[in-house]
Amino acid sequence: MNRRNWLKNSAAMTVGATALPALLQKAYADPAARNELYMDLSHEFRAALLADSMPPAAVKARLSANENPWGLSAKTKTAVNSSLTEANRYAMRATMDLYKAISEKDGIPMPQSPAGGGGWGGASKSYIKLGCGSTELLNASLMHFAQKGTIMVGDPCYISSNDERYPMDKVKLTADYQYDLDAMAKKIDPAKHSLVYICNPNNPTGNMLPADKLRKFIDEVSPKVTVLVDEAYIDYATNPKTDCMVDKIKEGKNVIVLRTLSKLYAFAGMRLGYALGKPELLQDISKYTMNGFGLTLPTIMGAMAAFSDAENTKMVLDKTNESKKYTADFLTKAGYKVIPSYANFMLFPVNMKGTELTGKLMQEGVMVRNWFFDGQHWCRVSIGTMDEMKAFTDSFTKVVS
Ligand SMILES: Cc1ncc(COP(=O)(O)O)c(C=O)c1O
Repeated sequence: MNRRNWLKNSAAMTVGATALPALLQKAYADPAARNELYMDLSHEFRAALLADSMPPAAVKARLSANENPWGLSAKTKTAVNSSLTEANRYAMRATMDLYKAISEKDGIPMPQSPAGGGGWGGASKSYIKLGCGSTELLNASLMHFAQKGTIMVGDPCYISSNDERYPMDKVKLTADYQYDLDAMAKKIDPAKHSLVYICNPNNPTGNMLPADKLRKFIDEVSPKVTVLVDEAYIDYATNPKTDCMVDKIKEGKNVIVLRTLSKLYAFAGMRLGYALGKPELLQDISKYTMNGFGLTLPTIMGAMAAFSDAENTKMVLDKTNESKKYTADFLTKAGYKVIPSYANFMLFPVNMKGTELTGKLMQEGVMVRNWFFDGQHWCRVSIGTMDEMKAFTDSFTKVVS
């Protein structure tokens, strides 16, 4: 949705402007402030901000931003709390430990020091860049590559509605709402395109490309144009270790992989993401980042605890799958064609205007996202706890009947 439509749609929502936070109220009244606000916020953030205008007590189900409702694990909270005693110091050593933890988790080499003997060989040799969420690294990549040419994206995908900020060439998804890799490979032109952005699993569709097909695409396209694979939801895939594209980095291909801890590890408010790629590729984008210096010690210490808490991640995946199955079964039984989801949300076409649906659900205390593409209104519902999903299915039944 572009900024203009968002404003129109938001204003049409049944939430009154008086209930909106001060920032939004100002934006409603003042076109200059509105423009500034829209330039600053991603569409995802804008939707979350609008939904946040509800009094917390009225919220029964927060299913609009693909967050993890189970929160930080007990071990993560302990690590965060313990880190506070050291939080008066800069987090250099902890940052090095985090690089090592990511390198071990994802099988990516640590930069070797020139003297050999392992250790830290410097930012210019790093296969890992840290960011305040993957948003910092995604924005940095778009800023860098947009200066060199047009960015090819699937339509819709996570960034396809950011069209007013970056030059984009949108390639429609296939009839089964999958990336049309054949069409993209045919269309790619190194004289025009500087980057191909692939979101896998895709947001908002939730579906996933077969790994071998994506690998073939990368082999064919990446010698001509860099491929950025946004793996924000890869942890929910059937086989994250083999479905991810890290092996293509190790083969030396022009590939950047983006990861976030906001989803499986519940770090949306803690803010930590990272990019993996050849050092020279990451150096290109790092000039638009804080090079990991924007991270706080509690976030870094919490992340390392979260990585090592396999019991908790299993619990989150099991509960996500239980809630996902319940919701997909409900919608299918009610006659909706849900796109098979490999993420912590699902998308399905609806028979009413998307904004009308979100507005009515919001009055029920249920927050979801609407999309419009392919001449069709869609509802994207994040996967929450069973209580939240039951609140969603009850309210949905009420508002569509
Ligand atoms: C596909 C995708 N990429 C990136 C992000 C940004 O996540 P964060 O900045 O929290 O890491 C999101 C957030 O929902 C997303 O859906």
